[in-house]
Amino acid sequence: MSVEQAKLPKTNVRKRSDEIKPFTCKNLIAVIEDPTEIRNIGTVIRNANALGAEKVYVVDPRRKLPDDWTEMREQKALSSTSVSGVKWTFVKRFDSTEECLAHLERNRFVSIVTSPHVKGKTNLLLHEADYTMHHKLAVWFGNESRGISELAVSRSDMCISVPMFGMIESLNLATCSGIVLYEVTRQRRAYQSQFRRRNKKGRRKNPLPLFIDRHTGEQ
Ligand SMILES: C[S@@+](CC[C@H](N)C(=O)[O-])C[C@H]1O[C@@H](n2cnc3c(N)ncnc32)[C@H](O)[C@@H]1O
Repeated sequence: MSVEQAKLPKTNVRKRSDEIKPFTCKNLIAVIEDPTEIRNIGTVIRNANALGAEKVYVVDPRRKLPDDWTEMREQKALSSTSVSGVKWTFVKRFDSTEECLAHLERNRFVSIVTSPHVKGKTNLLLHEADYTMHHKLAVWFGNESRGISELAVSRSDMCISVPMFGMIESLNLATCSGIVLYEVTRQRRAYQSQFRRRNKKGRRKNPLPLFIDRHTGEQ
């Protein structure tokens, strides 16, 4: 067993799970659209868990994943590639992009997509956008070779790009999720630390801490 996978004793698990609760970004979902590689799915789940996104949705027309989260947690490939992140972060699969969008829209989530290319009407670089404007936000990542679909673009609020400075066209899907979710969760945690409710209502007298102290585990 690797150091990463080494299990925490039960009491420490409970303590850690209490510690991280206030830092989780509520109503933030990472969506992966039609991923080919199980390793990428696992890594996105790992990133979502590590950075504090609430859930991961997978558009999975190839039926790589079981229907149920409990079954996903038992799947060895997913458990090892997410370093057990799948045990702690809720994952839901959908048969199609349309089904996932309909579910998100029914629950009043606003979607934003990511692409190294200009897509749709509103295009911003990662650091230019405000990720706290929408109370419920779904951030979409596209397929490894085809990228994000036109359908997802057409039902999204904006398209976000991580600026590129090299010769290659794009970042790896899972790598990109880490970079994008870092910025999105950073902004949303800062918001949650100041306000209890949407539209900057319910300002806290004492802002919540933004980090867990790495030496003491205290906030
Ligand atoms: C390997 S890329 C797909 C490349 C594909 N040829 C395309 O046209 O998008 C997989 C996914 O990672 C994300 N991605 C990769 N590089 C990105 C970048 N520089 N900015 C924003 N998203 C990026 C997007 O979600 C993309 O759909």
